Amino acid sequence: MSEAVRILRDAPLDRRNTFGVAARAPWLAELRDAGDLPGLLSRPEFRERAPLVLGGGSNLLFAGDPDAPVLALTGQDVRVLRDDGTAIVRADAGVQWHGFVMHTLDLGLAGLENLALIPGTVGAAPIQNIGAYGVEVRDFIHAVEAFEPASGQVHRLDAAACRFAYRDSVFKHEPDRYIVTAVEFALPHAPTLKLDYAGIGDEIVAMGIAAPTARDVANAVIAIRRRKLPDPAVLGNAGSFFKNPIVAQAQAEALQAQYPALPVFRGNDGTTRKLPAAWFIEACGWKGHRDGDAGVAATHALVLVNHGHASGQQLLELAHRIADSVRERFDVAIEPEPRVIGAAW
Ligand code: EPU
Repeated sequence: MSEAVRILRDAPLDRRNTFGVAARAPWLAELRDAGDLPGLLSRPEFRERAPLVLGGGSNLLFAGDPDAPVLALTGQDVRVLRDDGTAIVRADAGVQWHGFVMHTLDLGLAGLENLALIPGTVGAAPIQNIGAYGVEVRDFIHAVEAFEPASGQVHRLDAAACRFAYRDSVFKHEPDRYIVTAVEFALPHAPTLKLDYAGIGDEIVAMGIAAPTARDVANAVIAIRRRKLPDPAVLGNAGSFFKNPIVAQAQAEALQAQYPALPVFRGNDGTTRKLPAAWFIEACGWKGHRDGDAGVAATHALVLVNHGHASGQQLLELAHRIADSVRERFDVAIEPEPRVIGAAW
């Protein structure tokens, strides 16, 4: 195995999860070159259980220690593979997402501007099909390269094979089947800006810009996110803790008849509607709530926060109380967006 592999035993994960909760991995491997995966996964400590692949640690909650070895891919290669009006850009899984978005804008490429400032890595982006401000990453994914431990093969999945849906993909359905090693994006030079979602257009106007560029949109998104979402470097969190529930159109209409202020969004198809979990959580009085060091952000009801020394278990208990109260009051089930490790939801 090459020198690009580093293996640690009984490794602390506190700084490898954006909630900043304490956890330890039985084994931790950092691997720069995905070509070293077969060798690593044949070692006894990595062979028995499918490893937990850690990106930026921004979409998981350690409610306990993982019982599997942990793997972090650290490759940083970014390359334009070809460019005929739409560029195909390939980035290693270990590249930081926000830096990558800004780099594509530097290259004069558009598409990812609404996804600026999302924490995490390129490799994590397709797993839950990250999305914000009216754009989902699936809109710009050309292919995902993934190593399949069972076959020892590297697969190149096109967007259809990834089976993307709202915060969902084949990688989330079968978490142990693939290890995402790189992602190819198809990015146009000529932007089709999406300004209609939640405050982007207003923000651009407030910035005094009449004819926005893709970079202006990224700057607007960055400004909105900085106002609403706590910076994990300052206050531990994993972004939205709950997914927005998707319900039948009839249930959405019944709820809206009873609560006219409830916003209703389009679902995955014409028969479903997406409802803002944050609205229900705020209505139940949780916004800004604090139980010791486990709390709900004062600026956004969907974000659970660690005020200092909350344990993953305490955050999970708070999440359960929140979900129970929303179910009791509105008969709507809300589910965590991050992966919960070391406990069942
Ligand atoms: N709302 C409240 N109270 C709040 C916050 C929001 O009632 O404290 C209501 C408002 O009515 C608002 C609606 O919820 O109109 C939607 O709020 P927002 O635009 O902030 O978006 P969201 O649905 O809460 C989703 C994503 C975010 C993404 C934003 C912006 C999910 C689970 N979350 O949040 O993604 O940044 O839209 O596009 O889909 C993440 O996934 O970690 C994440 C931060």
